[in-house]
This record gives sequence, C-alpha cells and structure tokens, in this order.
Amino acid sequence: MDIDTGVNHAAWTAVSEKYWREYDELLVLARDGFSLVDVEREVLTPLLARGPEVVHLQSGDGIDDHALVKAGARSVVGVDYSSGAAAAAAKRATDLGAPISYVVATIPDTTLPDGCADLVYTGKGALIWMTDLDAWAREVARLLRPGGHLWVYDGHPAFALWSWDLDEARIRPDRRYFMRSYPCDSYPANGAVEYQWNLGQIVNAVVAAGLPIRHLGEHPEPFWKMGEMEAAAWQGHLPNTFSLLAGPR
Ligand SMILES: C[S@@+](CC[C@H](N)C(=O)[O-])C[C@H]1O[C@@H](n2cnc3c(N)ncnc32)[C@H](O)[C@@H]1O
Repeated sequence: MDIDTGVNHAAWTAVSEKYWREYDELLVLARDGFSLVDVEREVLTPLLARGPEVVHLQSGDGIDDHALVKAGARSVVGVDYSSGAAAAAAKRATDLGAPISYVVATIPDTTLPDGCADLVYTGKGALIWMTDLDAWAREVARLLRPGGHLWVYDGHPAFALWSWDLDEARIRPDRRYFMRSYPCDSYPANGAVEYQWNLGQIVNAVVAAGLPIRHLGEHPEPFWKMGEMEAAAWQGHLPNTFSLLAGPR
C-alpha cells in the first residue's frame, strides 16, 4: 500500500467535528485530569514533579494535556494536524485556565523551535499514523533540550493482529506482524491507512536518533476499545499496549 498522508489527513478532518459535538463531556474529563494510565503515572511522576515543559505530539482531544499539568507539567504544547481537534482543545484549555496551547502542524514537521521541550509525550493511537518513523524520532530529538525525555504509551504492534472475537483470541487472516500498512477499518476509517511499525523498528528509530532507552514495557490492556466492544484478546494474556521512556537517567 502506498504512503499517502493526504488520505489520512482528510480522514481525520472528516471526523474532527466530534471534538465539538463531545465538547462538554471532554471538558469534564479535562477538568478531572485523571486520564494518565497506571504505567504513565508510575514512570512519569518523577519527571513531571520537576515541572517540565511538555510537547504532546498528536495531541488529539488534548485530555491528557490537563492530566500532565495536574501531575506537575509547567506547560504543554499540543501538536496535531487536525485543526478541529486543536481548536476544540485550545478552547477547553482557555475555559479551564490551563497553561496549554496548540499548534496545527504535520508531524514530523512540527514548526516548533529546537530544544523547546523537557518531555515529548505521545501515544494512544499515534505511531500508526507516522509514515517515516526515523524522521519522527529525529524530530523528537530536535525538540528535546539536553537532558530531555521521550515518553510513548501506544498500541502494541501486535494489537492489530488480534481478532475481536469474544469466545477466543484469533489472529486476523488479513494481518501480519511484518506488514507495512493496512486499511483502517475502525477509527477514523474514511479510507485511512495505518502503518505497522514493529517493536524493533520503534526501538531502533529512537536509539538511532540518539535517545537511549530507559524503560520498555509491554502491557495487556488496550489503550482504546471501539464503542463498548470487548474481545478475548483483551483479557490479559496478549500484548495490547507498550510503553517506552528514552533519555538520560
Ligand atoms: C488516535 S488520535 C490520538 C490522539 C491523542 N493521543 C488522543 O488521545 O486524543 C491520533 C491523532 O493524530 C493526529 N495525526 C495523525 N497523523 C498526524 C500527523 N502526521 N501530524 C499531526 N497529527 C497527526 C490526528 O489528527 C489525531 O488527532
């Protein structure tokens, strides 16, 4: 499947109306500030306690930005190419008086200055939209100040393999771990194409950008479930998410 970021951008633009439709309920979630998952709280708490300036790549609804501030971040700049998502998130930040701002840009060209972040935070449906992971990792390294860290908590590369059967977990016949890309049949669909990066490619891209890995975890919980779906593959015996911290000790 050919790389065509225009198709993906159009697909995200098509669904971005939802950020306004769901504005009020997202505002409640943002105000609560509880969206970080256990491993994020466990690994990031000491870093956030230092009051870092954070850049959130693919910030989407921006809910995590409020959780990062609540946990200690001095400021967050979210970057997303969906202008609808960024505009709704920016209004939420203003409504709540939070030190969070948004930039509309296509990653890896974030348009942010060199060395502007102590922490680059990303995930929860991010890397599958990157068409060039080495370029993404180089951009992360460019954004970080000396001593800065990268945090990723995202779908495990194997997540795309599992069927959503309830009785037993199966491998989808149309997926392979070493596939390059496949049509998105969940969200945002609309002709979008997902890119399959395996764990080795992710780790190697980060290391090649000069960022030493400090933590790599594999977790059974998915970061997202379509609607109220349940699946046998999400019951605790298969990897569905991973976490990665890179940077100095
Ligand atoms: C599944 S959402 C996840 C976002 C966020 N983690 C959240 O929980 O809302 C993926 C986001 O990536 C954005 N995106 C995808 N490709 C992008 C790119 N190349 N540059 C900037 N944003 C991108 C989309 O607009 C969308 O908001």
